[in-house]
Amino acid sequence: MRLHWQGPTLVVRTPAKLNLFLDVLGKRPDGYHELETLMVSIGLYDTLRFQTNANGRLELFLDAASQGLTREMREVFPLDERNLILKAAALLRDHTGCPLGAAIHLTKSIPLQAGLGGGSSDAAATLLGLNRLWKLELPPQELHALAAQLGSDVNFFLDSVPLAICRGRGELITPEPLNRPLHFVVVKPPGGLSTRDVFMALPPTRSPRGSDAIRRALQIGHPSLIGTQLHNSLEVPAGVLSEEVASVLATLRRVSSVGRLMTGSGSSCFALCAHQGQAVQAAHQLRASCRGQVFVVQTAT
Ligand code: C5P
Repeated sequence: MRLHWQGPTLVVRTPAKLNLFLDVLGKRPDGYHELETLMVSIGLYDTLRFQTNANGRLELFLDAASQGLTREMREVFPLDERNLILKAAALLRDHTGCPLGAAIHLTKSIPLQAGLGGGSSDAAATLLGLNRLWKLELPPQELHALAAQLGSDVNFFLDSVPLAICRGRGELITPEPLNRPLHFVVVKPPGGLSTRDVFMALPPTRSPRGSDAIRRALQIGHPSLIGTQLHNSLEVPAGVLSEEVASVLATLRRVSSVGRLMTGSGSSCFALCAHQGQAVQAAHQLRASCRGQVFVVQTAT
């Protein structure tokens, strides 16, 4: 995540993520699922612009250049207190008693309901951005406590790390070393998936696989080795809920890559490629054969 000032405006560029590994370890008493997941930040960004609002109001505006939203999604995208950005702003203000308001302009490039963490990334950007704009100086551990109240993936983005293993609900973050950039082609089918629905469709009998093998592969850094260790327990239930997911995965199997997987709870799927040229070539083929959006990305630093 990058923060910089343009006059009185604080500009925050915040990335999407991919899950290279996701094991569901069991159901918890609080209704959530215990996870072990490995997430990477990727170079697909939303941009948020923050200005102090003298009138004390918290306001969110969607920029016309928001390519992450189709026309239909733009119509239903909430700009009121249902939006995680305004929830994050209100939580921070309640927590600190800050009397200031903010006007927040969002340029949305990360698709919604895609398993790419866009909403969580925007919430983390809001906590970091308003902490700076309003000169609150909350320490990281306090921001982390607020992040965990907003959603399971928000903590990952708050740390701005390229790669991390996330446990608990997903909110307990341990950064991992990433020795070289990884190259991906990502396909977001037209339909999205609700995280809750996918977790609810998960069959009860599971045997966790453990992240040791993929972490070792990432340390060695060879894409074809990493490709053999990609795993997501949510892929099967998501494929049952969405024909598009099953069909995108089948199409990804036909392009040249070293591995493929659904990210998070879907609906986006990705192929890990040996190098950028392979990702560009795969994207070319996928744009001709898939409906939806196709992105060529690499890990964000
Ligand atoms: O935490 P977040 O708001 O992103 O989660 C959305 C929904 O996904 C939760 O309400 C829950 O149904 C499901 N979920 C889960 N276990 C997790 C994370 C999410 O069951 N670790």
